[in-house]
Amino acid sequence: MYHFDELINRRNTNSLKWDVVEDGVIPLWVADMDFPVLPELQEALVKRAEHPFYGYKTNLGLIPGKTEGFYEAIRSWYKTRYDLTVETGHLLSGPGTVLSLGMIVREFSREGEGVLLLTPVYTPFFEVVKENRRKVVDVPMEPDEHGRFVLDTAAIEAGLAKAEEAGIKTPLALFCSPHNPGGRVWEREEIAAFLDLARRRNMIVASDEIHGDFVYAKNAAGKPQSFVSAASLESYAERLIVVSGANKTFNLGGLHISHFVIRDAGLRRIMKTALHREASHQGDVFSELAVETVYRQGVPWLTELHTYLGENIREAVQLLNTVPGINAFVPDGTYLIWADVRRLVEKTGSKNDAELVRRLEKEAKVKITAGSIYGDAGAGYVRINTASPRSQLVEGIRRIKAWAG
Ligand SMILES: Cc1ncc(COP(=O)(O)O)c(C=O)c1O
Repeated sequence: MYHFDELINRRNTNSLKWDVVEDGVIPLWVADMDFPVLPELQEALVKRAEHPFYGYKTNLGLIPGKTEGFYEAIRSWYKTRYDLTVETGHLLSGPGTVLSLGMIVREFSREGEGVLLLTPVYTPFFEVVKENRRKVVDVPMEPDEHGRFVLDTAAIEAGLAKAEEAGIKTPLALFCSPHNPGGRVWEREEIAAFLDLARRRNMIVASDEIHGDFVYAKNAAGKPQSFVSAASLESYAERLIVVSGANKTFNLGGLHISHFVIRDAGLRRIMKTALHREASHQGDVFSELAVETVYRQGVPWLTELHTYLGENIREAVQLLNTVPGINAFVPDGTYLIWADVRRLVEKTGSKNDAELVRRLEKEAKVKITAGSIYGDAGAGYVRINTASPRSQLVEGIRRIKAWAG
C-alpha cells in the first residue's frame, strides 16, 4: 500500500513544478508527479549518502566480467515487462533524454538540414533542433474522433517532399512514443510504417520512449494494448536509436539519467564516441544506483500507481467534460490529458490558448499547459498533468470549472 493520496508540501525544494508558481496556485503542468518515490529508492540513496565519499565512480559497464548493475537492471526491465530481449552491450548510459536527443541531432544531421517532427510534440524536440541550427520539418497530425492523433504516412511523405523542394534535406526524425502531449500509444503497425518510411527516405529515427511505462490496458478506443518499443522491430535496427529512462516512470527527473538502446554496432559506436566526447557516458553515484533500485524493486509501486492514475484520468476527464467549452480526451498512455479548449477560448474572450492558460493561473489559481507550446498544431488545446493526489487534481479542475462559469 503506497500513499498516493498524501499531500506533501514540495515548496522550497527547488521544484520546477511548485517553486515557479505563486502560493495558492495548484500546478497541473510540467510532467512531474506529486507522489513520493518508491521507499526502497529513498532508502538506497540515503544509505549511499551516509557513506562520506562521493568520489569518481567506475563505469562498470566498461570492465569486462563485472556485473553490470545499472545495465543489467535495464536489460531485465525490458525482458520481464515487455518480453524484449536487449543485450547489455546494446545499452548506453545517457545524461537525460533531452540532452541525448540534442546529441543525436548533432551526430545525425548537419547545420541547415531538416529534422522531422510530428506535431504537436514535447517542446524540447523543437528546441534541440533549432538551438543546434537545424530546421524543423513540421508535419502536423490530425486527431480522430477519440482525440487520438493519427500517424499519416502520406502527410509525412508530403511534408518531406515539401522540405526537399525548399532545398532542405531531412536525414533525421525525432519520434515521441508514447506521444506527449497527445497520449497516443502507437501500435506496432504504425511504428513499423513509420520506420519503413524512414528506411525509404534514408532517415535515422530517434524514438523517445520515456513515457513507455505508462500504457493502460485498453486504448482510448477500447482496444487492448501494450507498449511496443521500436527496438522490438529488429529489422529496422540499422536506423534506430531508442532513448528512454526510468525518470518519468519513477519520478527521477532531477537526477538526469537516461539510457540508449542501440542494436546496430555502427550507430552505437557513433553515439558512444559522442557521449565520451562530451564526458556524458556515465551517470553519477546516485543516479545509476537510483535506476538500478527502481528497476529491480519498483514493480509493486508502479502497479499500484497505474491503478491510481487510471482512476485519476477517468475522474479528471469526466469532470473536465462538464466544463462548457472543454472537450477532454482519455489518453492511451502517459498521465497527461489533452483537451480541446477552442470553444472556451472564444467564450471567455481570451486571445488564444496561451492567454487562457495565463488567466487560469492568475484568476483561477491553477496552472496547466497551453497546447501551442507544442507547435502550431497544438493551438486551441491544453495539457493537464493528472499525476497528483486526487483531491488536489479534482480541486484544480473544479477551479477551472468555477472560473469558466
Ligand atoms: C517525451 C519526453 N521526452 C523527454 C522528457 C524529459 O526527459 P529527461 O528529463 O530525461 O530529459 C520528457 C518529460 O516530460 C518527455 O515528455
